[in-house]
Amino acid sequence: MATVGLKNLNKAYPNGAKAVGDFSLEIADGEFIVLVGPSGCGKSTTLRMVAGLEGVSSGKVFIDGKDVTSAAPKDRDIAMVFQNYALYPQMTVYRNMAFGLTLKREDPEAVHEKVMRAAEILGLLHQLNKTPAQLSGGQRQRVAVGRAIVRNPKVFLFDEPLSNLDAKLRGQMRHEIKLLHKMLKATMIYVTHDQVEAMTLADRIVVMNNGIVQQVGAPMELYKRPANLFVAGFIGLPPMNFFDAALTENGAVKTEFFEIELSAADAELLRGSAGREIVLGIRPEDAELGAQTDFTVDIRENLGQTTLLHGRIGEGKKAVFKLAGWREYKPGDRLKIDFKPEKLHFFDKATEKSCR
Ligand SMILES: Nc1ncnc2c1ncn2[C@@H]1O[C@H](COP(=O)(O)OP(=O)(O)OP(=O)(O)O)[C@@H](O)[C@H]1O
Ligand SMILES: [Mg+2]
Repeated sequence: MATVGLKNLNKAYPNGAKAVGDFSLEIADGEFIVLVGPSGCGKSTTLRMVAGLEGVSSGKVFIDGKDVTSAAPKDRDIAMVFQNYALYPQMTVYRNMAFGLTLKREDPEAVHEKVMRAAEILGLLHQLNKTPAQLSGGQRQRVAVGRAIVRNPKVFLFDEPLSNLDAKLRGQMRHEIKLLHKMLKATMIYVTHDQVEAMTLADRIVVMNNGIVQQVGAPMELYKRPANLFVAGFIGLPPMNFFDAALTENGAVKTEFFEIELSAADAELLRGSAGREIVLGIRPEDAELGAQTDFTVDIRENLGQTTLLHGRIGEGKKAVFKLAGWREYKPGDRLKIDFKPEKLHFFDKATEKSCR
């Protein structure tokens, strides 16, 4: 177990592609960090720099306070689990898990003990003599995790470990990774595209875009107080609705389509900002049936407990709302909705930063 310190990490690939810019983060012992962001934003590159699989262009990597920036991957005491599992196809499950330790000439009895313990934790005791080709995707992923566990590393790194699995299995494996983290109390850095994984696994989420960290915080913090438009649009599903808006003299926020009186807290926050151009953000779940704003349904998606309504406000402003319960609206239905004044988000139009 260990702390991880990343100081001003930069990475430009030899072809000039700038993948990561000035990435700094202090990760506590036993913390579960999740890196999220769109494809190509530098998540894997960051992880590979921590692992030592990719050199840094500048900056430093510390593990347990020790500068490992130029240490080889094998000397960093970390284990990485990849999306494609990277198992040896000709070896049995047992050998796949034992191989790394055997290479390091560990005592065979100790190796056996570690492999059996990992197999037990991961429910692989009946699969030990099979080869990867004889396993399901979920079982293969477990073997890959098992191979990491037996090494008892200081830090676990995961690069989209579940993205080849179907939705149900992903859910199961997600729980197992969470339990594993609780049990091992190890420091983990986990890359994913999946919001649910990010929200449920992370102690802290790091949102990246174009190689740059946008915000670091606990899942609820990012959801409740996104620091900028990018984070606001990225965290939350379906994404937040955005409206060009202005603040009025009399303490309201006004868009082309509706006007909402500010809550007392927001009025205080935005005092003296009348006339200022802002972007108003409203999460799909922060609307309710009401009286104020016309909304025309285009597509309805019933999810069981909730119903998503994709449609238009006014003539053509696309928006999506989430209502509780099973709703039977049809395309073309016109509703009136209200927005919860205490749940509004405000961003400066020029800087795109939150006004909070
Ligand atoms: N070996 C490489 N040579 C040149 N450019 C690279 C290399 N690897 C990655 N890149 C570039 O660096 C940027 C970051 O890539 P990276 O793989 O870290 O993204 P990512 O966030 O992991 O994306 P994804 O979600 O698709 O896996 C991208 O623009 C990518 O094209
Ligand atoms: Mg990647």
